Amino acid sequence: VVLVVDFGAQYAQLIARRVREARVYSEIVPSTMPVAEMLAKNPKAIILSGGPSSVYAEGAPVLEREIFEAGVPVFGMCYGFQLMATTLGGTVDDNGAREYGRTPLHVSKVGSTLFEGTPAEQSVWMSHGDACSAAPEGFTVTASTDVVPVAAFENDEKKLYGVQYHPEVLHSTHGQQILEHFLYRGAGIEPNWTTHNVVEEQVALIREQVGTKRAICGLSGGVDSAVAAALVQKAIGSQLTCVYVDHGLMRKGETEQVEKDFVAATGVQLKVVDAQERFLTALAGVSDPETKRKIIGREFIRVFEQAQLEILQEDGPEVAFLVQGTLYPDVVESGGGTGTANIKSHHNVGGLPDDIEFELVEPLRKLFKDEVRMVGQELGLPEEIVQRQPFPGPGLGIRIVGEVTKDRLDLLREADAIAREELTAAGLDREIWQCPVVLLADVRSVGVQGDGRTYGHPIVLRPVSSEDAMTADWTRMPYDVLAKISTRITNEVSDVNRVVLDVTSKPPGTIEWE
Ligand code: XMP
Repeated sequence: VVLVVDFGAQYAQLIARRVREARVYSEIVPSTMPVAEMLAKNPKAIILSGGPSSVYAEGAPVLEREIFEAGVPVFGMCYGFQLMATTLGGTVDDNGAREYGRTPLHVSKVGSTLFEGTPAEQSVWMSHGDACSAAPEGFTVTASTDVVPVAAFENDEKKLYGVQYHPEVLHSTHGQQILEHFLYRGAGIEPNWTTHNVVEEQVALIREQVGTKRAICGLSGGVDSAVAAALVQKAIGSQLTCVYVDHGLMRKGETEQVEKDFVAATGVQLKVVDAQERFLTALAGVSDPETKRKIIGREFIRVFEQAQLEILQEDGPEVAFLVQGTLYPDVVESGGGTGTANIKSHHNVGGLPDDIEFELVEPLRKLFKDEVRMVGQELGLPEEIVQRQPFPGPGLGIRIVGEVTKDRLDLLREADAIAREELTAAGLDREIWQCPVVLLADVRSVGVQGDGRTYGHPIVLRPVSSEDAMTADWTRMPYDVLAKISTRITNEVSDVNRVVLDVTSKPPGTIEWE
């Protein structure tokens, strides 16, 4: 493992991903972890991330000196670079040499371990106030910028390296190469971490954890639960039962995708609960978004627990495990704890016996989203499942502004299917984060179709571009694609006579309308 020490900026996750892109397994640890504990993990190398602090600020994070003396190769970036410099006797000062953004880097030793094979002039991404003016003893300065004399240093003997900039961001043109040079040349690590190995390793771990007992997994149609289920299925086969609640709020073809394609690809034992009537009844007469969300959430848990109860009552070994598609960013953000938590199912809601406790199986808890997709591919899941864009749990229920009815759902399903088809045909699926299609069921406007006046509903297209759904911008997508979607929707979907485009970023608008 390569450890990425997190100094509290958003960079650690990015660095960890870049290391994995170099086919070397990496994990993030907080900078507050004692160095002895880091070293106890037997890391093949350690990377110190950037961070928001100045090394001289009061309370700035520090590391015990031993980290540089244990014989483990270390690569410092930005804050990590400055920390390495000051800890080992170099000089870092606030000399007014601020650099932010794209900066030209002058490489003074092109054949060095880090810079081998990269150009003497390259563009790098800087973000710092303090600057290093003298490298520690024993280090060779290998790059500088117009304002910073020491922008990179290397000590091959001690296997210590550092750069002032952020090689992990794409704006640093040779960043990935430099990181790989550190990993392969500096630290001598073999790049052999692949999705294939991840699958093998997880399958073995799941078998060991579950033994001869049984497990349950809730499928939502989303990527994470599908890949988690497929992995567990590969490990324990018929000891796993998946539950899919069809609440009738799914998009066109989605339930079939789970029922047919997913089962065909994995051979999983699937229990589909048709709860459409139940959800429609519960949602009748309700227009308020929050009330809708609450009703959908509540009904979902009830149906899911009823299904669990039925599985518990079937003959067979004890059902002791619940599979969840938790991802690495969730784990890191919630404190990075390892080990498995015990959760008690919501027995107050669905009538499960009081003493039922499930242990969690979370085979994706060390993976990033793009890696989950790769594992899905490795497991042979259909492209439509693996490359799915985000879709909210409450489904189309929160994309109908107004009361949710069967007719309206059918109408929206058609419009949504057309939009998705055309976006895919135009090759926009990767560029667009997601494109909610919203029915304004409480709005009517006048139109003319054929020779007659119409009084129909508008459909809203909400294409957004985003990194993480926390913020988003509306996608400037080609007019001709919009035109085609509009024409097809108004022609093919009855009762819709107008298509409008949502041109609001987030904030102020959320991605979904409700
Ligand atoms: P908003 O509308 O808050 O959405 O900008 C941010 C992202 O979250 C998705 N979303 C949900 N996902 N259950 C989910 O699993 C939900 O209740 C839910 N509501 C919104 C939304 O599609 C977007 O990707």
